[in-house]
Amino acid sequence: MSRTCGAGRVRALSLAVVCAVALSGLPSAATVALDTTTGAPGIGDPYWPLDGNGGIDVRHYDVAVDYDFATGELSGTTTLTMAARTDLATFHLDLLLPVTAVSVEGVPAAFAKPVEHELRVTPATVVARDDVVEVEVTYAGRPGSIVYADELNWLASDRELLAANEPHMAPWWYPANDHPSDKATFDIAVTGPATHQAVSNGLLVNRRVDGARATTQWRVLRPMTTYNALLALGRYDVEQTTRGGLPSYVAVSRDLPAFERSAALRQLRRSDEITAWLARRLGPYPFESTGGLVTGLPAGFALENQTRPTYPGAPDTELLVHELGHQWFGNSVSVRRWRDIWLNEGFAQFLQHYWLETHRGQPAQQWLRKTHRAFAATRGFWRLDIADPGAARVFDNAVYVRGAMAVQALRHRIGDRTFWRLLRAWTDRRRHGTGGIGDFRTLAERVARQPLDGFFRAWLSAPRAPAVTRRNGLR
Ligand code: TRP
Ligand code: ZN
Repeated sequence: MSRTCGAGRVRALSLAVVCAVALSGLPSAATVALDTTTGAPGIGDPYWPLDGNGGIDVRHYDVAVDYDFATGELSGTTTLTMAARTDLATFHLDLLLPVTAVSVEGVPAAFAKPVEHELRVTPATVVARDDVVEVEVTYAGRPGSIVYADELNWLASDRELLAANEPHMAPWWYPANDHPSDKATFDIAVTGPATHQAVSNGLLVNRRVDGARATTQWRVLRPMTTYNALLALGRYDVEQTTRGGLPSYVAVSRDLPAFERSAALRQLRRSDEITAWLARRLGPYPFESTGGLVTGLPAGFALENQTRPTYPGAPDTELLVHELGHQWFGNSVSVRRWRDIWLNEGFAQFLQHYWLETHRGQPAQQWLRKTHRAFAATRGFWRLDIADPGAARVFDNAVYVRGAMAVQALRHRIGDRTFWRLLRAWTDRRRHGTGGIGDFRTLAERVARQPLDGFFRAWLSAPRAPAVTRRNGLR
């Protein structure tokens, strides 16, 4: 209390309110408006205004969850190590589940859930700007019953559980600063039936069996976005190998039919070879392990979970290339705002075409010309500004297809050597960081030594097919 009410860091006006709140333990709506001492409920991304939080910077998540297949209940304790970016009398985290306790530096804190997606924490004392504190949150609930932003990012049967989605899925199982612009390292411990395996990101550090239950610990050594954290619990065939010093961990659901299980395993085993192939083009692989998971649950799409992409059924090689390509484009270099999604999907999709060029004799430029011709008269295809597609359209087909066309057109316009130098410069300089489309354009112009604003406008934003010109990379 003494620091909250005595420290000169807190503005006089807010002081009374802050002290009253802290004393009564009843956070009031009045605190939300006082921005020098209050972390904002969102990080400022207009696509999802409540995603992420203002005023905090999470460095590490230590997530421990326990799942009960019989009841669908998840209980967890997550400790966040976070820095305050401003003096904080209160701050927000994103979490959909009911909370039972919060402490800051071991001292119980007041908390409230003003809306389902937000957890508002009022520590006993103000957290001063630049202080790094440990925040422990204890919670429990049934994630499978919660819908947010029209999403239910929780797939579970009575035998398998998978939490994997983008743009967000963290708030279904751990409290987070849920936005790709705040990356952190992770420890993830999952407790479930000893008959099951728990699969997550990074390195498997320990598995402990205690009667009928087992706890499996995973460690993520490099910064990761919150949507990349993987929670999978099921009966899997697992394989661990090491190739060229890089561990690979693959898992295939035993609930799949036998022929699909073997096809899935055969393809997943290629993850290390494809990772190495990509590294030769894109620069050193940014993470501590690779691999993948094939779920038996009806996941509608694959996801590039850091070091461990998840696939709905046996992936073909192009899909492996796409998800592993995301390790550079999306996971090591992450979007600064969701409007920058082209930097993820356009490049992952382009890499598929580059693989077809080098392994199947199908030049990407030929694909570009053919696709441009095929869509030339389709007005709807060009209507979407893929440099700002809007929240409802971040995964629109145009983001992928028009997006990959834009990348190949750039390659053709600036030349192969300059193009790969640009991609390497991008993944190298922004390794484990973030970037936006404007940053990429600036770098492209510098590396290629030419203005490219017209090019990017034509390929990303103009509501019509780019003209067949050399400047548009079509001749
Ligand atoms: N990012 C995934 C991929 O391209 C796809 C994806 C994630 C997706 N979330 C989605 C597609 C939601 C449609 C809807 O590998
Ligand atoms: Zn993708």
